[in-house]
Amino acid sequence: MKARIIGTGSYLPEEIRTNYDLEKMVDTNHDWIVARTGIVQRRIAGDDECTSDMATIAAQRALEMAGLTAEDIDLIVVGTITGDYPWPATGCLVQAKLGAKNAYAYDISAACSGFLYALSNANDFLMSGRGKRALVIGAETFSRIIDWTDRNTCILFGDGAGAVVLEAQEGDSGVLSCHLYSDGNYWELLHQPGFGAKNPASAAGIEAKLPFLRMEGNEVFKVAVRSLTKVSKEALAANGYTSADVGQFIPHQANLRILEATTKRLGLTSEQSFINVHKYGNTSGATIPIAIDEANRQGLLKEGTLILSAAFGGGFTWGSTLIRW
Ligand code: ACO
Repeated sequence: MKARIIGTGSYLPEEIRTNYDLEKMVDTNHDWIVARTGIVQRRIAGDDECTSDMATIAAQRALEMAGLTAEDIDLIVVGTITGDYPWPATGCLVQAKLGAKNAYAYDISAACSGFLYALSNANDFLMSGRGKRALVIGAETFSRIIDWTDRNTCILFGDGAGAVVLEAQEGDSGVLSCHLYSDGNYWELLHQPGFGAKNPASAAGIEAKLPFLRMEGNEVFKVAVRSLTKVSKEALAANGYTSADVGQFIPHQANLRILEATTKRLGLTSEQSFINVHKYGNTSGATIPIAIDEANRQGLLKEGTLILSAAFGGGFTWGSTLIRW
């Protein structure tokens, strides 16, 4: 028995913000951004769009591919750190919008690793026999927690959502393993200081820009490459595979330099590695399900294809999964 992906979906908002648009907002330029990150453009949610709206559309597309209705779903897990509200969970909002009345729903807060944490969680749920089908979603509206006057961070991120439908099925295809890690000692290198219980809402907090993401980019970069490589190797070794067996490496799309450094250390070819960070930037917990959906719709994922996925993000959190398609 394995948890198999039987449907994928994604949603990217319409507005495209290019590097040239950013040149008009902060002291940066297209060539610098492309050289340091590989990012050319990112999508920005409309004024009337939020995380649950994008998540719902991605989920509907995944359900449609699976040939299911929302009522067939037993569990909804959303990996997000930019939910519509501090609470209730965005998962509950998605449940209501879908009409998934037989499911229970919640969010997982693991930043860029949110989707892999959610996938692991749903996999455990299905393998325990508590339910038959789960919707696993990664969705973020990062544009709302970005300081658009800070060139160190605003160039990196974008908005979007991706979803997969997991179903418990007999056979050897599906999620083969999940390895998850965190190290809270690094929390300050990548975090959002306000507004939570530690720094509750205040005018002084707004003045100090506490609701915006803070990041020590250089430090994040180094730990990210090391951790992504190690946890990817762990996934392969745990299942008796080597890099040569990987059909598609679908990593968290943080930036091209991290992806290239990791791919090289793993001994993977560019043909094995799926990259779309140039189009969408870093959509945090949404990058992996968006990339899985794109790879799937491009016909790159065939029955039996071995998919290696790995993520790294705030917390720090990181992890990997190996999936037999
Ligand atoms: N445009 C032009 N110049 C810039 C910009 C910009 N947008 N941002 C910084 N610079 C300048 C800096 O001020 C600095 O100038 P100085 O030398 O005169 O002081 C110079 O460029 C180099 O700055 P660095 O920060 O050293 O540049 P670096 O090569 O490290 O690239 C970056 C910065 C792209 C943020 C890189 O550190 C990185 O990719 N880090 C990983 C962060 C990340 O991906 N975070 C996402 C969340 S976690 C995750 O998803 C893995």
